[in-house]
Amino acid sequence: MFEIEEKLEIISEEIEQKFPKEYREFTKITNAVINHSLFNRLNTVENIKVYSEFQIWCVWDFMSILKVVQNLVFTNSIMWIPPKNTTLGYNLYKLLMTEETDKSHPEVKTQRTSHFKLFIYAMQKMKADTSLISNFLGEIQKSEDLEAILTNLNVNKSIKKFLAINHRLIKENPKNAVALLSLTRENFLPAVFKAVVGNSTINTKSIEPFIWYHKRHIQLDEGVHGPIADDLFNEYIINDEDILLSLKCSIESLSARFELLSEIECNLI
Ligand SMILES: [Fe+2]
Repeated sequence: MFEIEEKLEIISEEIEQKFPKEYREFTKITNAVINHSLFNRLNTVENIKVYSEFQIWCVWDFMSILKVVQNLVFTNSIMWIPPKNTTLGYNLYKLLMTEETDKSHPEVKTQRTSHFKLFIYAMQKMKADTSLISNFLGEIQKSEDLEAILTNLNVNKSIKKFLAINHRLIKENPKNAVALLSLTRENFLPAVFKAVVGNSTINTKSIEPFIWYHKRHIQLDEGVHGPIADDLFNEYIINDEDILLSLKCSIESLSARFELLSEIECNLI
């Protein structure tokens, strides 16, 4: 059994004491996600393929969260305004650089790639279906109406729900994107990814890029991205109202992720 509490140093004792109900709910849902029974069933290539066809949507969603954080730290207009905290801005660029332009898998000739494309490559190597996410990428280049695009998209309802919730939260308030980045992604995903591949005994070439992707992610998130996400949290989540909101939106997003994992488990072969 994994426990997340000790890993999320950003949640101080003061936060725990001020918001005991939300803290308990947050801890409960984080542990529920990390210990989801799905992860014990990712022991065949076929099951990992099914998992990847759902997970790719979370990989895309992560980048949207990151774009909102980027727009919060830096101005996104032609009329440039200097960032308020340059050191934080520099560190955010380090995070963005590895998420969007990391080194490629050794088999790939291209030197640089995004983590999204790394995941797509891992899916292609195990012959998972990437057609839906490819169609989606085409649609979002024509329209920014995510709700309408999702309505017309033939993807599982749990994926639609997960994307819709996160999209609403980050549009409502950019601070929610900071909270989601820290509490539900950079500081949280290493534990999830260890659960995904930690006990994998599958030793086929088709699965190797999938394992490589996860090991690279765990290394970066634990060593570099997690601390940067903490700094962002400390910069923007400044008062009790912010903290309460960040706990609430993280609980909502993680609950949708739990539902998504349960749906994946139902779709396993
Ligand atoms: Fe990361």
